[in-house]
Amino acid sequence: MALECADDWSNHALDRFSYLNVRPATGAEELTVRIVRDPALRHEQFRLDVRPGSVDVVAADRAGVGHAATVVRQLLPADAWRRTPVERGSWVLPVVAVDETPAYPWRGFMLDVARHFVPKQDVLRLVEHLAMHRLNRLHLHLTDDQGWRVESLRHPRLAEVASGRAETVIGVPGVSEPPSFDGTPHGGYYSVADLREITAHAARHGIEVVPEIDLPSHADALIAALPELAVPGTAPRPVNPTWGVIGSLISPLPAARAVVAELLAEVADAVDSPYLHVGGDEAPLDEWAGSAAVRDYMRASGLASIAELQSEVYGFLGRTVEELGRRPVMWDEGFHVHGIPASTIIMAWRAQSHGVGALRAGHDVVMAPVDGTYFDYNESGDDEPLALGAGQDIEHVAAFTPTIPADVPGALLGVQAQLWTEYTPDTRTVAYRTFPRLAVHAANAWTGESTPWPGRRDELTTHLARLAAAGIEYRPLAGPHPWQRGGTGRRKAISPHRVNE
Ligand code: ACM
Repeated sequence: MALECADDWSNHALDRFSYLNVRPATGAEELTVRIVRDPALRHEQFRLDVRPGSVDVVAADRAGVGHAATVVRQLLPADAWRRTPVERGSWVLPVVAVDETPAYPWRGFMLDVARHFVPKQDVLRLVEHLAMHRLNRLHLHLTDDQGWRVESLRHPRLAEVASGRAETVIGVPGVSEPPSFDGTPHGGYYSVADLREITAHAARHGIEVVPEIDLPSHADALIAALPELAVPGTAPRPVNPTWGVIGSLISPLPAARAVVAELLAEVADAVDSPYLHVGGDEAPLDEWAGSAAVRDYMRASGLASIAELQSEVYGFLGRTVEELGRRPVMWDEGFHVHGIPASTIIMAWRAQSHGVGALRAGHDVVMAPVDGTYFDYNESGDDEPLALGAGQDIEHVAAFTPTIPADVPGALLGVQAQLWTEYTPDTRTVAYRTFPRLAVHAANAWTGESTPWPGRRDELTTHLARLAAAGIEYRPLAGPHPWQRGGTGRRKAISPHRVNE
């Protein structure tokens, strides 16, 4: 198997076609993979021509080459997805001609590594699984009330204190009452070198990492480690062992902002990405309103209301990201707070209507609504393990596409699926909740259209064999394996919430 390719692409191409065991060409091979650069093609576009004895790829950039490598692998038997193929003598590649460009430049998956830490090696595998589905953004929700997963060289207490919690609530708060706790510590964090490795591994696979530092709310872990960031007058707090909108905020005062700017600079240094997400979601403002020191600051700064203070703080977060040379990203609440930079990308999570509002105001938008893209909800509810709720079945995910009016000034960048991990305590459950729903989401993200269901069920069934060969412990279409169920114990699904409520 031979490879012919422009020199500066050859390492990349050898890497992406490694499952074929390709070698630089010597002239005596039965199959030659030829890769040609054509700058006239669009970003991520590829042309693929498979004929007897040759695989021809034309692309404008490495991302296109990577997608072509993925499509060739899909054309082979599912065994081609094993990490090291065990038998390749009988592989037959069908003759095909393909010319594809993705509908959206942003095809994302968000993993919450704050509620439950996901070890680095599993994130590296996930990157490969995203590339397998031609997704191109890995959004890592790195911080929340229950854990801070980023090493800070300036503030070692973040790793020492904020990366672990003493215990975790059992069941779903508000549903299982009174709350009880498991008494077992949980934690973990990525070193700066780990984050650089994840970023580089993602780049090799055509994926940009979007790191999220969730501010100014969801900050209990941060404040537990650095109490100087607490709103003056509030009680000390531990890294939080329970779930929900907790209501704590970081201090909006200048001394706290200086530390926040330092932390964001450290994250930008560890994750070389065009983007830096600063959260902005679920921020009740009571702690600011109740603090005499905050009111003094508002008077001194001429801020007439808590809403004006919020605009000022969100504006500061956005501008700090811009000063780091990155594009700010915020959840849709950020759009409703006036004062954020016009460059801010809005992730519409509560409903697509918030994304439409942001598009009308000229922001670029990623559609990531609960209804259709939140994988922390179970598919059926029966037999499944503990989750926030149910109703996010394949049919629902297949039906999801953005609906936007014509002639809005902002650009719809794309779509993203989310896995929040309050009820996803380990990597096996991550795989269970993510696949195969993510395969369907990725198909919609690539084509820009919904997936006919059950019309494409056979195709998805074929794909399940690839997932199995890749070692992904997906949820079978007919329902969970016995060992994937919640049973009658602590992991029994008890929540009555539905995804489309
Ligand atoms: C979110 O689900 N709070 C973005």
